[in-house]
Amino acid sequence: MGSLAATLLLAMISLTVALDNGLLKTPPMGWMAWERFRCSIDCKDDPKNCIGEDLFRDMADRLAEDGWKELGYEYVIIDDCWMSMLRDEEGRLQPEPSRFPGGIPKLARYIHDRGLKLGIYADMGTRTCMGFPGTTLDKIEIDAQTFASWGVDYLKFDGCNSNPVQQMLGYPLMSKALNATGRPIAYSCSWPVYVGGLPTNVNYSFMGDICHLWRNYYDIQDSWDSLLSIIEWFSNNQDDLQPAAGPGRWNDPDMLIIGNFGLSVDQARTQMALWAIMAAPLIMSNDLRNLDNSARAILQNKVAIGINQDPMGIQGRRLLQEKSHIEVYWRPLSHSASALVFLSRRTDMPYRYRNSLAKLNYDTGNYKAYDVFTGSTVKVLNATTEFTISINPSGVVMWYVYTEQQSKQMETLHYQQKKVSQFTLHKAKPGHHTVL
Ligand SMILES: *[C@@H]1O[C@H](CO)[C@@H](O)[C@H](O)[C@H]1NC(C)=O
Ligand SMILES: *[C@@H]1O[C@H](CO)[C@@H](O)[C@H](O)[C@H]1NC(C)=O
Ligand SMILES: *[C@@H]1O[C@H](CO)[C@@H](O)[C@H](O)[C@H]1NC(C)=O
Repeated sequence: MGSLAATLLLAMISLTVALDNGLLKTPPMGWMAWERFRCSIDCKDDPKNCIGEDLFRDMADRLAEDGWKELGYEYVIIDDCWMSMLRDEEGRLQPEPSRFPGGIPKLARYIHDRGLKLGIYADMGTRTCMGFPGTTLDKIEIDAQTFASWGVDYLKFDGCNSNPVQQMLGYPLMSKALNATGRPIAYSCSWPVYVGGLPTNVNYSFMGDICHLWRNYYDIQDSWDSLLSIIEWFSNNQDDLQPAAGPGRWNDPDMLIIGNFGLSVDQARTQMALWAIMAAPLIMSNDLRNLDNSARAILQNKVAIGINQDPMGIQGRRLLQEKSHIEVYWRPLSHSASALVFLSRRTDMPYRYRNSLAKLNYDTGNYKAYDVFTGSTVKVLNATTEFTISINPSGVVMWYVYTEQQSKQMETLHYQQKKVSQFTLHKAKPGHHTVL
């Protein structure tokens, strides 16, 4: 870092605007186009699957009518490839008219009328990743104003075709420009991905001051390999990443690919379980018009969603990597409850895994464990007594763990609609909030 960078750093700090506007106290939930629909722009040949207003209206209909909205899935997010190649005479971005003939404000109204929110995409740089008009430093203000005037509720700000100095200036500037519009707009920053995702290139404390969420690592693809590489990177770097998360500031390991082609049912449960542990955005990229029942059940699992949306907003951690290739993940939750995920990275057969809660740092005493994906309550577990579970290859067993005294309330466990997922379980037991 030379003196230029130091000067820019000072400039950046003086630009600091806490984007503390009350948005995203829990991780965002919704649907985004990219992983499933990419940059498909041939609406003549493939009208059902191209990036155009019909696609977003279809997805809004499905979110509103198929039970998603009630569970918290509320954002409909346009990704790259929505733009016209040219800005208008006043220098504003505009949608490609053949694919968005009604314009974005009309689409925003359609989405808002269904109780949902609209997200859009722009890129800090000369061009978007797919080559559409970018948002250079001089365009940040006008683009923020344009999005606000259209009724946009969420901005994904990508970082292709810019250098680290431009990014260092541009991401805070956009935060300030969004704030200045007066419209609360959730701000998703791709900045960390472009500078390696880790300190000291990334100051996650600062990131949390200016962005509500940020992409740390490479794009997810529709495969188990891709999913596993993301889980592994986030876990290997959890000491840097986990403390950065909290209400209004989230790490983003990227979209949920459940319901597409690359994952088995067990692997789909693994993504849902780990995204809940990591307090990750639950932003699906799939075709909600054609979803099989097992994918729907996993994505609509109320307890998994409730764990993801826990109001304390503490990101979980990987606790253990066993020689047997079983990994154990843990997240502390409100009311002294917690979530445990046992992941099998084996490739042979269901593995019988033995452990005890005491060995996983739980206080002595009796607990109950609710099996999130089978829906059954495991019998009382004495922390010191060993339990045995069977974990499928590339699958998980996921538990919601609560103390025995809370078991009466467990019967009334219900997920309260819209973000306030309160498991009505109480009885604080200190010690369980401690992050290991
Ligand atoms: C702008 O920032 C201030 C200070 O953090 C905050 O109180 C306000 O809610 C923000 N407004 C918007 C629209 O983001
Ligand atoms: C990181 O950002 C915070 C502001 O959130 C600032 O106080 C701190 O000095 C920064 N750390 C470094 C190493 O620049
Ligand atoms: C649980 O285990 C502990 C230690 O072995 C023991 O002292 C306690 O009595 C057990 N509790 C029950 C309810 O079995």
